[in-house]
Amino acid sequence: MQTTKADGDRDSAGDTRRGFLAKVAALACGGLATVAPLAAGVWAFLDPLRRKGAAATFLPVTELTAVPDDGVPRQFAVVSERIDAWTGFPREPIGAVYLRREKGSQQVEALSATCPHAGCFVELEADGRCFRCPCHNSTFTRDGGIVQPSPSPRVMDALECQVSESGAVSVKWQNFYTGIADKVARE
Ligand code: FES
Repeated sequence: MQTTKADGDRDSAGDTRRGFLAKVAALACGGLATVAPLAAGVWAFLDPLRRKGAAATFLPVTELTAVPDDGVPRQFAVVSERIDAWTGFPREPIGAVYLRREKGSQQVEALSATCPHAGCFVELEADGRCFRCPCHNSTFTRDGGIVQPSPSPRVMDALECQVSESGAVSVKWQNFYTGIADKVARE
């Protein structure tokens, strides 16, 4: 079939239009690829449970009256909201702490129940006099000190603890790297 000059002009105009649309589409995709991670980063920064140091948020754990002043540690769950990517989940346990206080004291000492050796759950012995980790038998005194010999490279991880005027006990919840001598917070 014979092609006229008018046909050629139409083809050329069509090619130009298609090229233009392809560029617009590419720009839009590129823009999305840039904006989406940026938006996620902004969201992660603004969300107190996800940003750096988020794990260091003070979380309410119990009441002072639930921690008898007999020096014996008591175990409490640390409960918080879990946020996974864009989805929020109901409040659920994210860890556990041992709280104790001495006779007549209003101050509460808090220890993470996570073993500093490899992250297993440290258990309180039945007599309440020491802790033992069932994984590799690290033993700790009830104030968190190491009983040697011990696979754990450091004492149990102490956590900051606050008692409000109304008697609410809150713990600054943090996870720490395991297997090293220094207590270094995970971010
Ligand atoms: S994880 Fe606790 S002793 Fe190894």
